[in-house]
Amino acid sequence: MSISSKNDQNTDLAFWLKNQNASSALSQIVLAMAEAGIEIAHVAKSAALDGKSGAAGIVNVQGEEQKDLDIISNDIVLEHLKKCPSAIALVSEEVPELLINPGGEISSDDEKNYAICFDPLDGSSNIETNSAIGTIFSVLQLGVINGDYPDQNDVFAASKNQIAAGYIYYGPATLLILTIGKSVAMFAFSEVDKQFFLVQDQLTIPKTASEYSINMAYARFWDASTTTYINDCQSGKPGPRGKDFNMRWSGAMIADVHKLFVRGGVFIYPALKKPGSETGKLRFLYEALPMAMLVENAGGKAIMGKQEISGFLPSSLHQRVPVILGSKEEVEILQNLYRQKH
Ligand code: AHG
Ligand code: MN
Ligand code: MN
Repeated sequence: MSISSKNDQNTDLAFWLKNQNASSALSQIVLAMAEAGIEIAHVAKSAALDGKSGAAGIVNVQGEEQKDLDIISNDIVLEHLKKCPSAIALVSEEVPELLINPGGEISSDDEKNYAICFDPLDGSSNIETNSAIGTIFSVLQLGVINGDYPDQNDVFAASKNQIAAGYIYYGPATLLILTIGKSVAMFAFSEVDKQFFLVQDQLTIPKTASEYSINMAYARFWDASTTTYINDCQSGKPGPRGKDFNMRWSGAMIADVHKLFVRGGVFIYPALKKPGSETGKLRFLYEALPMAMLVENAGGKAIMGKQEISGFLPSSLHQRVPVILGSKEEVEILQNLYRQKH
């Protein structure tokens, strides 16, 4: 692991992308997401003062109440992505249908046509309590486009060609966690310089850990594998795991996943035996898939049960899937339980 600071190496995000030999098309998209994040962080800071920390009175395609900040953040991301010609197709949590970018230009070079899937504001229910929120994004290579514009089937197929993923975490610090290939890097936003600087590259998730994140209130809706795994963790030192565990649940995936990069652990949002959550809550294209790429590229593991998250072919834009990710050995324990019990 190497650590750098703004003072000694001055590695800003644009410079880092160049050093990584990222294509100009991909760099432009990543920088657009970073710019959008800077703007969202700014709006979020003054949301209470501006009367924007409440509900917007609209229910989105998934039956969830949209907050003012969900809509504002979505508009900000769209505004920035419109300036990226390679961002041909856009999937947002807040928009029911696939969007074709009015600023997009289909390239004859198949490698330069992308779909961007994003959750403009993760952790909406945390806005009113001034807790962690974030933005998650995934960049998919569309490849050959049959017809004038890509349709949703092109995007589903492209989910196997995820070339970049990241999240921006609006916490005490505004952080960008990014992968454009094999490794994962963390950038922090400088309020002075108004840009992101590299803080740490080659982030790794410890293989073992003793912390889990799950919403315990749903225990009665869990499947047998999740119940066994959590019961074993809760039994602590005298139990089958032989060690004590800690538990955290932030109500925002970005915050719980971020902990994985700091001290390891496992994040679980399983399928629930309750109406509307039979396949879980988190959406494949803009929550599960990008987080899986980040976690795997940091040496962790990401599954839906028996099956890995990466490699799954979705059949709808807002498809919900069970999500289990984090320290490799912990996730494997749970995967083995799924293999035995289902
Ligand atoms: P979003 O705010 O984008 O709808 O996502 C919220 C998600 C995720 O961030 C978090 O882990 C989970 O919802 C929390 O759900 P519960 O309230 O059911 O625990
Ligand atoms: Mn979300
Ligand atoms: Mn959201």
